Amino acid sequence: MESSKKLIISVIGTGYLGATHAAAMASLGFHVIGIDVDSEKINSLKEGIVPFYEPDLEELLQEQLKAERLFFTTDFSAAKNADIHFICVGTPQSKDSLAADMRYVDAAIEAIGPIAKDGSLIVGKSTVPVGTASRLANLLRKINPNLELAWNPEFLREGFAVEDTLRPNRLVVGVTSDRADEILKEVYADLLAAEIPWIRADLPTAELVKVAANSFLATKISFINAMAEICEAADGDVTVLAKAIGYDPRIGNKFLQAGIGFGGGCLPKDIRAFMARADELGARQALEFLREIDSINLRARTRMIELVRADLGNDLTGRKIAIFGAAFKPESDDVRDSPALDIAAQLYKAGAQILIHDPKATKNASLRNPELNFSESIEETVAGADIILHLTEWRQYREINPKKLISHVLQAKIIDGRNALDRQKWQEAGWQIRSLGVSTSIK
Ligand code: UDX
Repeated sequence: MESSKKLIISVIGTGYLGATHAAAMASLGFHVIGIDVDSEKINSLKEGIVPFYEPDLEELLQEQLKAERLFFTTDFSAAKNADIHFICVGTPQSKDSLAADMRYVDAAIEAIGPIAKDGSLIVGKSTVPVGTASRLANLLRKINPNLELAWNPEFLREGFAVEDTLRPNRLVVGVTSDRADEILKEVYADLLAAEIPWIRADLPTAELVKVAANSFLATKISFINAMAEICEAADGDVTVLAKAIGYDPRIGNKFLQAGIGFGGGCLPKDIRAFMARADELGARQALEFLREIDSINLRARTRMIELVRADLGNDLTGRKIAIFGAAFKPESDDVRDSPALDIAAQLYKAGAQILIHDPKATKNASLRNPELNFSESIEETVAGADIILHLTEWRQYREINPKKLISHVLQAKIIDGRNALDRQKWQEAGWQIRSLGVSTSIK
């Protein structure tokens, strides 16, 4: 086999997934061309600026631009010499249904198909409804029978995108030939040398691995949030319960953090798209439970608002609520389907005065919810507040000194929507701290 470094790679779509994948592939020594229809995004990447917050990515990007292995353009013809084309465009939820909107994937295939050189491999990484890959393979065959399609789902977490791309738990490839498997092994040779497990699958199984994994994770979170509801009703403490069941290795202690639930650009839309696809396949019943997972998740947001009302009374008009966190999770500036921002917007609609702090996500949050107010300072956010809501567990909120903060608020009340604060520390400093899933009688 020739030196892997001779392969030329194109990456179509330069969002979270594509920008990270392009920089990571360049760091493995390949010549990489990142392509996107969004010229603003491309110009920013060309200058070494990542248009979103992702730890370590900007450094990697700049390093690879400087090494002249990584290039960005809006011109698809720049990919004509590439041996492999990774499709990394988004598949958001459709406006009018639960299904995934496939227009960007289809457009990417239609754009790259006529340009790709004979023998090149087109590799889907986007999360798609099962059956998409074989549909696209048929489409490609009509454009050029000398192209081949494979599917290589991506499991990266925002906040750990670089780490997860270069050191994933496993690599999954859906292929229809040994040749495609070999080409992908050449791409990932360095990762294989580091003994990362390689799973070869057929196309539908590879597509399903991704949505099955995300459905499992969503189920785990909603399971613990359902237990949180029970703990509240039965005077228990879900944090102790989670710790205790997590010691069983069959259960495991990850993804058992009860709170206001999951959000972001993946979990919510993936479980919904999975249900929609199961329906189309005549297997609706198999995923009926995901409807419950979704509703437990959304109920956690409502329960948070109920806790606020329990504290401040039903009429929230004019009450000042300070909110810690807008991003859907820490180490990210992503506010897509963010539970924190959703709760803030609902409280605002109920008449409360809202001021939100977030270390990275206020810009995106204010674009999405221009009616809300944001502050750069924690002290300013809590000044005169009737209550604080801790909704995204950034490290800096855990590092707050509650003794110092108490002088800024009107009432020393905080609700921990993520079960991440040190309850004892806040209580000892004179705060009333409440949490989702922890009975109010527990001190
Ligand atoms: C997820 C998957 O983890 C990843 O493999 C896939 O490729 C994309 O979707 P991501 O959306 O970046 O990644 O975030 P993740 O860390 O999985 O968290 C998802 C949501 O669940 C967040 O809103 C987080 O706050 C919430 N969560 C997570 C909980 O509420 N409790 C937990 O115990 C863990």
